[in-house]
Amino acid sequence: MQKGTDMLILGIETSCDETGLALYCGERGLLAHALHSQVDLHAEYGGVVPELASRDHVRKTLPLLREICRRAGVESTEIEGVAYTRGPGLIGALLVGAALGRSLAWAWRVPAVGVHHMEGHLLAPMLEPEPPAFPFVALLVSGGHSLLVEVQGVGQYRILGESVDDAAGEAFDKTAKLLGLPYPGGPALAKLAERGNPGRFQFPRPMTDRPGCDFSFSGLKTAAITMWRSLEPTSENRADVARAFEEAVVDTLAIKCRRALEATGLKRLVVAGGVGANQRLRARLRDLAAERGGEVHYPRLEFCTDNGAMIAYAGWRRLASGQREDLGIEVLPRWPLDQLTAAN
Ligand code: KG4
Ligand code: ZN
Repeated sequence: MQKGTDMLILGIETSCDETGLALYCGERGLLAHALHSQVDLHAEYGGVVPELASRDHVRKTLPLLREICRRAGVESTEIEGVAYTRGPGLIGALLVGAALGRSLAWAWRVPAVGVHHMEGHLLAPMLEPEPPAFPFVALLVSGGHSLLVEVQGVGQYRILGESVDDAAGEAFDKTAKLLGLPYPGGPALAKLAERGNPGRFQFPRPMTDRPGCDFSFSGLKTAAITMWRSLEPTSENRADVARAFEEAVVDTLAIKCRRALEATGLKRLVVAGGVGANQRLRARLRDLAAERGGEVHYPRLEFCTDNGAMIAYAGWRRLASGQREDLGIEVLPRWPLDQLTAAN
């Protein structure tokens, strides 16, 4: 059975509304990756429709597999392991990737591993030319999660803080929807905020007045909406509310990151997940790290949001370290990150 750091791994991401496939080789790095976004499919409903997501993954996975093999000049017989997203995510969507990944691995007689989606995000900066060294603090901010994690190595995670209600991306999306912006809301709200007047409105920085690194974003969403409803619905007012909302989220995340770095004594910060694509957040955390004599690492923009490359990489770390699983197909819509096993 294949084992070793030079393994060639296929990664499959289907946890939500992006179909992502990638080939990662320990020796040669990322060979190819392809992504199909379902944004257009869900846009008319204003959010992800789970059953439509699953069906679209069924349609797109194999064509994308052929495409990355062609681009990388790789025959399927050369693939030495398969990694698929096992959770957390939408159960139907996860099942598509899991069933396909397990079946391909069985047909090819290679091992397969089910990857934690947030571990994928957390390790995504490892695909960059200057990857972060362990240990570090990771801020994971996506549509489903807001987590601050102390990372000692692959699978060695201690949760320092998490959202007690909405995730950061969810707050962006819901606020954007209530402001009448199109789905997906986060990038649309961030774009609108660019035009907003910075000091006009001041929203609360939730939970920064008490100790700890937990977050809460649902009150902020309410503050933004209450303000918007009290105003004339002009595009200027809308941009100002968007700006104040974004400032409040970014400020809150920066305050909690500072606390997490202080509490752990670590200097390296990794930011990942869809909200990590937010330019104001990136700039603020860069300043924070510089001020503390540390550094901040991000994945490139296209690997902040969901993608197959991060799953191929995380799967490679686990398969190359010898992790093996039985043939059962199991997905976990909920899966606490600190329940993973270490892989070194
Ligand atoms: O990691 P991701 O692609 O999917 C999940 O695993 O949830 O994250 C998607 C989230 C969405 O809530 C989206 O609105 C948000 O990331 N997002 C942003 C930006 N780009 C994506 N939020 C704020 N600013 C952005 N530029
Ligand atoms: Zn994600």
